[in-house]
Amino acid sequence: MKKIKYLLVFVLLTLSLVLASCQPAAEAPAEPAVVPEEPAVVPEEPAVVPEEPAEEIPADSQLEIFSWWTAGGEAEGLNAMFEVYSALYPEVEIINATVAGGAGANAKAVLATRLQGGDPPDSFQVHAGLEVEKYEPSTYLQPIDDLLDPAVFPQDLLDLLLYEGHYWTMPVNIHRSNVLWYNPKLLEENNIAVPTTMEEFFAACETLEAAGLIPIAMGTKDGWEGAHVFESFLPAALGADGYRGLWTGEVSWNDPGVTQALEDFLTMMEYVNEDHSALTWDAAGEYIIADQAAFMIMGDWAAGWFASKGYADFGWAPPPGTDGIFVALSDAFSLPKNAPNEQAAIHWLEVAGSKAGQEAFNPAKGSICARIDCDNAAFEVVPETYLYLTSAAEDWASDAIVPSVVHGAAAYESWATDFKDVITLFVTSGDVARTQSDLADLCVAAGICQ
Ligand code: GAL
Repeated sequence: MKKIKYLLVFVLLTLSLVLASCQPAAEAPAEPAVVPEEPAVVPEEPAVVPEEPAEEIPADSQLEIFSWWTAGGEAEGLNAMFEVYSALYPEVEIINATVAGGAGANAKAVLATRLQGGDPPDSFQVHAGLEVEKYEPSTYLQPIDDLLDPAVFPQDLLDLLLYEGHYWTMPVNIHRSNVLWYNPKLLEENNIAVPTTMEEFFAACETLEAAGLIPIAMGTKDGWEGAHVFESFLPAALGADGYRGLWTGEVSWNDPGVTQALEDFLTMMEYVNEDHSALTWDAAGEYIIADQAAFMIMGDWAAGWFASKGYADFGWAPPPGTDGIFVALSDAFSLPKNAPNEQAAIHWLEVAGSKAGQEAFNPAKGSICARIDCDNAAFEVVPETYLYLTSAAEDWASDAIVPSVVHGAAAYESWATDFKDVITLFVTSGDVARTQSDLADLCVAAGICQ
C-alpha cells in the first residue's frame, strides 16, 4: 500500500514538472535529476502539486529582458514592445537589463558570465543564425519549437533559426546591414548623384572633401564598426554568391575579390572623419544630422536612430556595388534554462513573435517585421522611418539575401569575433596582404577552409 502511495506521488510530481516546464513532453526526461531519488523525502500529500502549474503568473512576478538596446530608436522600439507586454500582463514588472555598446560589443561578455554563473535573465537578445552556438543551447537554452509558428516567418529566416534540429529563439525583426545613408542637401549642393560604383563613390568623396566637408561619417570606438562596413565591401567585390561562399568554404579568402574589397575599404578610410576611433556609430551619425558629413555606411537601426532625433531628411541607397544584395540579420529572444520567471518569459516570447509586438517594435527600431503578415500601415506611426522601411520590405522580397557575419548570421561567434579583430587591426595597419592572409587563416581555424 505504501509503495503504491509513493508511486502515485512520484507520478504526480513528474507530471507537474512536465507541465511546469512547458516543453514538449518528449523534452521532460531530459532533466530526470530533479526528480527526488528518495521517495521518503517527498511529502506524501498530493496537495503539493500546483493546481495551475502552466498558466498562472503570480502577481509579484518580474520579467528581466537582457539586450544592448540603449541607443535612440533601439530603446524606443524595445519600450514599445514592453508596452504591448504590459497591456497584456500588467502585474508583471519588467526589468530592462541593458548593457550599452552597439552590436553587443559589451553585452555578450556580460551575458556569457551570467549564464556560466547560473544567473540567467528571463530572456536575452541573440541574433538569428550561428551566433546561438555561443550560448551552448543544449546547456543553457530551452527549445521553443512549441512557441514559434513557422507558418508566419519567411523560409530564409527559418533556415537561419534552426540549429541542431530546434528553434531556440523568437525573431522580432529583419535588419539590413548594408545601407549607405546620405545627406541629400549636401549632395545636391555639391552636384553629386548618389554613387552606385566605388569609382563614383570615391569621386564624390573627393568633391566633398574639396568643399571642406566630411565625406564619410564613421565611428569605430566599439571595435565592430570597421568590420561592419567591410561586410558591405565583400559582396560589392565578390557578388552575392561569392560572398556567401566565403563563409561556406566554396570561395577562397585568397580570391582577388577579397583583395579588391580590402583595397577599396582602405581608400574609403581616407575620407572618414579623423575622430572616428573616439566615436560610436550613433555619435558619428551626428555629423550627418549637423550637415557636416555626407555619407555613412551603417545598418538600418540608423533609420530608427535618425527618427529618435527627429531627423527625417536622410536618404538611403545600397552601398556602392551592392545593388540587389541584402546583407541580412535578425534580432531574436531566447528562453534560458532556469529562467527565474519562466512563465513570464514564455509570454514575452509570445509577444515578441506576435503581429502586435512586431508592429509596435519595428517602426521605431528601423527594421521590418520578421513576420510576413505585418501591415505596412502600422509603420506610419513613425513617419521618419516609414518610407525607408517600405523600401526595405520591397528589397527584402526581391534582393539576393546574404547573411551578415558581424551580426551573428553567417558564422560561429568565435570566427565572427576574430574577423572583427582582424579588420579593427586593418583600420590602423592598412596592410592589405597581411590582413588577407589573416582572414584566410581564420577560415582554416574555423574548420571551414582546408
Ligand atoms: C546589431 C543589432 C541591432 C542593433 C545594432 C547596433 O547587432 O542586431 O538590433 O542594435 O546591433 O546596436
